Amino acid sequence: MVEPIKLTTRSERKDLIQDAHYNTFLLRAEDVIIDLLTDSGTSAMSSDAWGALMRGDESYAGARSWFRFRDTVKDIFGFEQVIPTHQGRAAEHILFGVMVKPGQIVPNNTHFDTTRGNIDFVGGQPIDLPCAEADDLDSRFPFKGNMDTAALEKLVAEHGPENIPVIMVTVTNNSGGGQPVSMANIREISRIAKAAGIPFYIDACRFAENSHFIKHREEGYADVAPIDIAREMFSYADGCTMSAKKDSFANIGGFLCTNDASLAHQERNILIMTEGFPTYGGLAGRDLEAIAVGLRETLDENYLDYRLLSTRYVVERLVDAGIPVMAPAGGHAVYLDARRFLPHIEPLQYPGQALSVELYLEAGIRTAEIGTVMFGLDPHTGEEAPARLDLLRLAIPRRVYTQSHMDYVLEAINQVWERRESLRGMKIVEAPQFLRHFTAHFEYV
Ligand code: F0G
Repeated sequence: MVEPIKLTTRSERKDLIQDAHYNTFLLRAEDVIIDLLTDSGTSAMSSDAWGALMRGDESYAGARSWFRFRDTVKDIFGFEQVIPTHQGRAAEHILFGVMVKPGQIVPNNTHFDTTRGNIDFVGGQPIDLPCAEADDLDSRFPFKGNMDTAALEKLVAEHGPENIPVIMVTVTNNSGGGQPVSMANIREISRIAKAAGIPFYIDACRFAENSHFIKHREEGYADVAPIDIAREMFSYADGCTMSAKKDSFANIGGFLCTNDASLAHQERNILIMTEGFPTYGGLAGRDLEAIAVGLRETLDENYLDYRLLSTRYVVERLVDAGIPVMAPAGGHAVYLDARRFLPHIEPLQYPGQALSVELYLEAGIRTAEIGTVMFGLDPHTGEEAPARLDLLRLAIPRRVYTQSHMDYVLEAINQVWERRESLRGMKIVEAPQFLRHFTAHFEYV
């Protein structure tokens, strides 16, 4: 299936981005030439997945599509209980609603904004424990997504297992630059969690990409198939949350897994109230079918080779041109280091946002800031401070763009790099208290 790309001129884009208040989330998709806003729900489905859609069994309870979905999830993820949800954040909402009490702490390598938001929502405290190498954007450490396990042990000793209802790790580490987590790190987190009697969950959105990184970067896995690496990763955990909009090519969907039958019972009670009957969650039978097909395809080695190599292709061209970018390449996205790209724009004038606007003006490319706009405001105190990093994420939908599209993106980045000193900072003129990046209005300072 193909989609037309509407070409716009620079002067049209000048008006379009102004009308969108300089926020790429507020643009119309048809006014975007290359859409790198997210890899979530934007991937291309295969002929097999489209074929499977047609046999969706829409029975309210016990549909054939449910059993196909459940058996596939069990085969790959290995957990006993499978709970379908309409997307990843619904799985998080149910999990934390059941497990987390006000004041309790939930550590992660780096929480994605929806996990953070859902923990905040029930009064818990999300804590990020990235490894030391994660802060150095140039370090070639192969597993910069790892959790700092010494810090985790310290946290458990200081607060006690009774105040930590669940330990999570996100593979790959999306908010930390799409970097992978090693099997050794997962094993060590599992050991610490078991010793303390704390359940250990994996945020599994990009589990196939993480498995392939383990295959290529960790000793002992070169000859192991990605599906077996995935099975080993999940064997160390007590459960997982998953967004099928990432590593299973679906436009919608997700699930929650656990080995704890009594917990699953409580989770299904909430599911029935908020998502749907336990054999469809928030999904149509046809979605369950597409996900079951996508979960197999995402573990195909040829696909995974192509996926990781095509992201690396972009990162390596940028490194060669001396353009500041997070390296080594992650799986689903390229992260420009906006703070070093635009050193004359201070963090509180949002260099990531300025770069995002400029890439749209230059070539109609839509990207998302991951920096001070997204993380700089404390919603409870109203105080603003620079985020740890100011990144601009170019997320790459799966099986959508070709190398020629990516060459166009590289050309545009190079052109903006040439005249980077002419870029100006931005200010926020209107924004909500929570998750402001989605709807904030900006102007140039
Ligand atoms: N966890 C991670 C690591 C994610 O990247 C996302 C979504 C979610 C959970 C939530 O899943 O969207 O199905 O509710 N990430 C998208 C992104 C939105 O653009 O990175 P969801």
